[in-house]
Amino acid sequence: MNERLKQIKLHPVRYYKSLIKNDPQGIDLTIGEGHFNSPFNAKLKAYEALLTNNTKYSQIEGDKALRKLVVEKYYPKYDENTEIIITNGSSQGLFNVLLTLISSFEDEVIIAGPYYPAYYNVIRLLGAKPVVIDTSKSQFKLNRELLEIKVNKNTKALIINEPNNPTGVSYTLSEKKELLNYSVEKEIYVIVDEIYRLYTDSSYVPFHDLLDNNSKKYFIFINGLSKSHLMTGYRIGFVLSNPLFCQQLRKANYLIVSSISSIMQQAAIGALTDDYFCEFVKKYYLNNVAMLLDALKFLKVPYVDTTCGYYVFIDVSKFNMSGREFCLFFSKNYHIALVPGDLFGVDYSNYIRVSCCKDVTDIVKFVEFFTSYIASISQISWL
Ligand SMILES: Cc1ncc(COP(=O)(O)O)c(C=O)c1O
Repeated sequence: MNERLKQIKLHPVRYYKSLIKNDPQGIDLTIGEGHFNSPFNAKLKAYEALLTNNTKYSQIEGDKALRKLVVEKYYPKYDENTEIIITNGSSQGLFNVLLTLISSFEDEVIIAGPYYPAYYNVIRLLGAKPVVIDTSKSQFKLNRELLEIKVNKNTKALIINEPNNPTGVSYTLSEKKELLNYSVEKEIYVIVDEIYRLYTDSSYVPFHDLLDNNSKKYFIFINGLSKSHLMTGYRIGFVLSNPLFCQQLRKANYLIVSSISSIMQQAAIGALTDDYFCEFVKKYYLNNVAMLLDALKFLKVPYVDTTCGYYVFIDVSKFNMSGREFCLFFSKNYHIALVPGDLFGVDYSNYIRVSCCKDVTDIVKFVEFFTSYIASISQISWL
């Protein structure tokens, strides 16, 4: 059996979720899966695909109408025929991208900590070296100075996840320009995981907007409908890059899945015609985040400040507990499941992550319980 696979421990978010499994009062703030159902148009289109027997293999690179819609809506600088591949969720997109890039055990891929665990695991599974750069002292962002220390002749790519899971952080325009110029100068690929791109404010400028014909060669975008359209179970992702890269990626797609479910691709077309749904969901979850951040500010609990994404990363060290201990304590005493920060890298054991893509009443309960916990340990009379 594959020794590298044996060494990989699976993402234990589900373990923390299971702590409240049989608890009737349990509130799950672990997993990044929106609590609303998927858009009605998605269901209609899937149903229609079944009834009209649109059930055969689709093209290896994905349904043309779907590719066209994605490009028109999110990536207008890309060509729908040669620069986009539809994948089985962005997870398979990530796997295919790394499979396409990595060719030797010497290859290195830079990831910014805290990071989405799949980055680390897939790089290792493919035999390359994940090079983690801790960003906790640089506002949770990579920059030229930090990269300069780690980039070498073996560096193939760096992965940027913005808005980030678990911190919610995204880069400013000038920070993006710096990263873009650096990667072009060093000729390394930049893999941008934009799965949370919907959850941004008006100041957000996507990397895509900065690309010219030269820099475009170095960029690979990974995205999908799991988070923006709450379609986690439909498994629709997409990867955009230059035509040469996409040619190879297409082969990987063929070898791994032949093609993506034609029914779900029709559902994706339906979902992409429903802008109202996304706007509603975006406002709702960003509002949950803002409410939680306000409460943390008031309670003087340190957190990573952000206006993007739907996670909040909280430093719990002042309670003399590690993130893990805090999560166990909260699930046992307050019936709320949370995720400890060390799932996103060893350096983050003081943190917990709260997923805010949930009903507003669940976030309110968390705030109430957190407040009463703080009151209980500090005997604050006003509570
Ligand atoms: C940063 C990031 N990338 C990718 C994914 C995978 O999403 P999916 O495979 O459902 O598209 C997730 C899921 O939580 C994520 O947080």
